[in-house]
Amino acid sequence: MDKQTDSIQPIIWRDNKLFLLDQRQLPHQQIWLEYDHAEEVAIAIRDMVVRGAPAIGITAAYGIVLAARQAWLMAESKWQQAMAAQVIKLKQSRPTAVNLFWSIQRMMALAETLSEDEPAEVVLLKEAKTLHADDIAANHIMGKLGANLIDNASIVLTHCNAGALATGGFGTALGVIRQAYTEGKIKQVYAGETRPWLQGARLTAWELQQDNIPVTLLCEGAAAALMATGKLDWVIVGADRIAANGDVANKIGTYMLAILAKYHQVKMMVVAPTSTIDWQLNDGSKIPIEQRSEQEVTMINGQSIAPVGVSALNPAFDVTPAHLIDAIVTEAGVVLSPSLENMLKIKE
Ligand code: MRU
Repeated sequence: MDKQTDSIQPIIWRDNKLFLLDQRQLPHQQIWLEYDHAEEVAIAIRDMVVRGAPAIGITAAYGIVLAARQAWLMAESKWQQAMAAQVIKLKQSRPTAVNLFWSIQRMMALAETLSEDEPAEVVLLKEAKTLHADDIAANHIMGKLGANLIDNASIVLTHCNAGALATGGFGTALGVIRQAYTEGKIKQVYAGETRPWLQGARLTAWELQQDNIPVTLLCEGAAAALMATGKLDWVIVGADRIAANGDVANKIGTYMLAILAKYHQVKMMVVAPTSTIDWQLNDGSKIPIEQRSEQEVTMINGQSIAPVGVSALNPAFDVTPAHLIDAIVTEAGVVLSPSLENMLKIKE
C-alpha cells in the first residue's frame, strides 16, 4: 500500500530543473511543466499550477535554488543580494499558506551563511531536497497518528485537496485517510467539490480513485444534509496556516463545515505539519486571507455562468476557531481540544 500511495508526487527536480505536474489540467490530462527561472516558479504558484500549503513551500525552496543559480551567473560574489528581487516575487505569489514563508526563510538563512567559494546551488539544492523528503516523512507520521483517532468502519468527509498533490507526497488529510483505509477503518469517503477551483472534484476524487478508496463527491451545499443522516464520523481537512491558539485557516468552506460538524456532533480533525503553524500569530484574526479574482466565480472553464457585470466575492480561505476543532494532528504530536496551552505542548 505504501508504495502505491506514494506514487503521486507533484514536484520533481531532475536534470537541474524543476518539474511541476500542472494541477489545473487534472484529472483529464497529466502534463508536466518545466522551470529553470525563479520568476516563472512564482507565477506557477500564483496561477495554481501547484497548490496546497506544503507543496507551495517545497516549490518555493526549489525556486530559491534557481534564484541562487541566476544570481550567481549575474553577480558572482554579490549573489545573495542579487537574489532579492526574485525572493520577493516568490514571497508575493500567495499570501495565506505560511509554509511558503517558512521555506523561503529557511533557505535564505542557509544562503546567508555561505561564503563566496562554497557551491551555493549544490548546498541549497541539498536543503530543498531535505525539506521535500521531510515533508513526505511527516505526512506518513501524521497518517498513523490521525488514523489512531479513527474507529473501524468510519465514514469521513474531506474538503479541497490535502492529498499527495498538495504536499511532497502522501498528503496530510488524505494521508490520514489513506493510512486509516489501509488499517481497514474507512468505509466511505465523501469529497466536497470545493468551488471555485474544484480541488475536491478534480484532485481529491482522482487521488482516491487511484488508490481504490471509495469516494463519493458532493456539492458543498449537501454537507448539512449528509451530516443530518447521522452517518458521518469525521470531517478531516488540511490547513494553510494555524495560529498559536489553534485557530485554522484553510480552504474557503472549512469554517462552514466545522460549524455544521459541531451542530451534528461530527468530529473535526485538522492535519498539518508543524511548518504550517505560525507561532507569531496569537489567533486567527491576523491571518492574511487571499482574495482571488471575481472571474473564478463568475466563469467556469472560460464560460460565463453569471449575468454580465455581476460582482462576486472570492476569498480563497476562511478561519475556523480552535473551539470548533477536536484534534490538530502534526508530525510532532496530536493536539486535542486545541488552545494556546495545548498547542504549546508540541512546540520544540
Ligand atoms: O487554494 P489551494 O488549493 O492552495 O488551497 C489548499 C488548501 O486549502 C489545503 O487544504 C491546504 O493547503 C492544505 S494542503 C495539505
